[in-house]
Amino acid sequence: MSHHLQAEKNTIQIDERLQMPQMVAIAADLTQHILDSDPDRLAHSKAAARRAEFLTLAVEPKCAALLVAAAWLHDIGYAPGLRDTGFHPIDGARHLQTIGWPPAICNLVAHHSGARFVARVLQLNRQLEAYPFSQDAVSDALTVADQTTGPHGEAITIEERMRDMLRRHGPDSPNALAHPLREPYIRAAASRVAERLEHTGIDRARHRILTTGLSDR
Ligand SMILES: [Fe+2]
Repeated sequence: MSHHLQAEKNTIQIDERLQMPQMVAIAADLTQHILDSDPDRLAHSKAAARRAEFLTLAVEPKCAALLVAAAWLHDIGYAPGLRDTGFHPIDGARHLQTIGWPPAICNLVAHHSGARFVARVLQLNRQLEAYPFSQDAVSDALTVADQTTGPHGEAITIEERMRDMLRRHGPDSPNALAHPLREPYIRAAASRVAERLEHTGIDRARHRILTTGLSDR
């Protein structure tokens, strides 16, 4: 195992609530309730959670439920009823914090898929700072779960996902303006997750994180 992957071991403190076996089911139920009137977003969340289940192979076993629960919850901040700053990673994290979810979940939701780069463009970095970012195996895997799942829940490569994102949000969007810094982060996270999976014996053809063609997962 390469040095930078070794160094991050045992850095994650896991709230004992997140080790409850029913935590993922509670996250799924809450997401289904909150995104009830947005079937596409719900399909995306469900598929990202499925993808995260596979990507648990790239995290410590004690972090598996944290990863899958966060994947379910990562986009709840899009729900109109949760709108606060208007930036869904922060709004989702704030809601989860308000209703008593452990900080590890709130922090992951706040920072999924390089949200800090978009927050800077939106001048919401102060608000985001309430949620510390940790670059680790779980935040990498959550970002990859999101970035390999399309807006309707379809399997998609990271290349396709970024292209689609720029097309949907438009060239002047905060996402597009953040792209020069956010894209390298997402690609680096993907490489790290791919490397972790390959250490467990899952080859590229199976994890399909770095493939550039159409995926048929
Ligand atoms: Fe997402």
